[in-house]
Amino acid sequence: MSWITNTLTSTVGRKVIMALTGLFLTLFLAVHLAGNLQLLKNDGGESFNIYTQFMAHNPLIQAISKGNFFFILLHIYVSFTLYFRNKKARPVGYKVAPGNVSSSWASRSMTLLGTLILIFILLHLRGYWYVLKFGHVPMVTVNGVEMHDAYRLVVESYQNPLIAGFYILSMGVLAFHLWHGFSSAFQSLGLSHVKYTGFIKVVGKLYAIVVPALFALIPIMLYLKSIG
Ligand code: HEM
Repeated sequence: MSWITNTLTSTVGRKVIMALTGLFLTLFLAVHLAGNLQLLKNDGGESFNIYTQFMAHNPLIQAISKGNFFFILLHIYVSFTLYFRNKKARPVGYKVAPGNVSSSWASRSMTLLGTLILIFILLHLRGYWYVLKFGHVPMVTVNGVEMHDAYRLVVESYQNPLIAGFYILSMGVLAFHLWHGFSSAFQSLGLSHVKYTGFIKVVGKLYAIVVPALFALIPIMLYLKSIG
């Protein structure tokens, strides 16, 4: 089992964990987005409620969900250990502003961006996931099946411009985090190659723009619908 200890304690090993958990969470985002886009369907929330009911009761999804929470915690824990190890190694920081070197603002701010995303996730889980699991959400009957009206929970929350605005801003933060994180994960896994690095970078940047933009579209559209 010494390889596990070695992986967890070496900087390279920790970067590999960051990359693998990061890529898993990136994949989760795409699946979560596909489900959430059903909020924009004009069907009174039927599709979204069927989707959330399925997610909450399918045993395989429940197992993946536990893995998802574990990977989120691992990603956060390892990122902080790397941050503090880095700080210890270079307590006074750089003399020359690192902005002059060929690194982007996003790449130098990954810990800050990640911490803002952590705050977003905590508030997000409290607002929806926790309420659906432990709170009182009205029930609806769809196709003869009684289920929680998750659609109403989400739609009503975005009637508040502060909540809608917080989501939209957070998606900007997510975009910057993915902007650097996507290609950086491939680099940490040693998967950079003259032939593919350019392609991975382009896909990463596209992903970092399109996925958060579509997520942001949900509170924008639902808020506009609520005032119009
Ligand atoms: C407009 C944007 C979003 C909406 C409307 C939304 C909605 C929801 C809802 C209703 C749930 C609880 C039901 C379920 O588990 O399917 C949920 C769970 C969750 N959301 Fe979101 N979400 C959004 C964006 C995000 C983003 C950007 C992230 C991550 C950065 C995220 C992370 C999570 C996680 C980790 C869970 C718990 C999933 C699980 O049970 O495994 N969500 N979301």
